[in-house]
Amino acid sequence: MAEEQKAKGVNRRTFLQLVASIPAVGALAAFAAPLLRYLKPNLEPGLGVPQGKVPPDLAEGDLPKGEPLPIARLEELAEPWSSKFFVFTQKYPQYTPEQAKAATVPGVAIRLPWKVRFPGYKEGKEPTDIVVFSRICPHLGCIFNYVPDWREITAGYGGYVPPPERRHGLLGCPCHLSIYDPADREVPGRVLSGPAPRPPRYFVYEVRNGVIVVTAVEPGGIA
Ligand code: FES
Repeated sequence: MAEEQKAKGVNRRTFLQLVASIPAVGALAAFAAPLLRYLKPNLEPGLGVPQGKVPPDLAEGDLPKGEPLPIARLEELAEPWSSKFFVFTQKYPQYTPEQAKAATVPGVAIRLPWKVRFPGYKEGKEPTDIVVFSRICPHLGCIFNYVPDWREITAGYGGYVPPPERRHGLLGCPCHLSIYDPADREVPGRVLSGPAPRPPRYFVYEVRNGVIVVTAVEPGGIA
């Protein structure tokens, strides 16, 4: 009899311990579930596509795309250092299989007084005197300006004084004062000063019937 009562006591104690541990188990599960969800990949390996979705046509590459955008007639940029601002809408097939996500990228086209090999024009194989850059700063994504008068760069962008051969239109970012030379003969958009890690991204463009048409923007970066 005593044995039976003792066994009952043990069972009740075990039961109470179990009941008492339920909140702790629940709390642990609540903590672990998002962690496990975080660790579980939700993209198809190698494709960057949410599971269960049809991948984009990878044969076309993963270049951000947009509708070709006429931005200026050639005569609008007849003068050296003349410029034209525009906004391009691009889509990211590599991130959104439905290609629905669009971003707007402000850009600027500039006529140079000399020709350079610009990667956005015939892949840099033919020299051109028109360069077209994204205005999204490669440093931290601010929108930078085209400043035709270099003195304004010196006055308003941290006191940078370009050497004599670069005293012309420059690109200046107001956020952390990166300065770029759109007309550098070897690397159009070369960083002259400030923290930017690279030149601004280029637009791919072509000239159709005397009109400059941008068709894509260099992939990557903050946009
Ligand atoms: S965002 Fe342009 S210099 Fe920092």
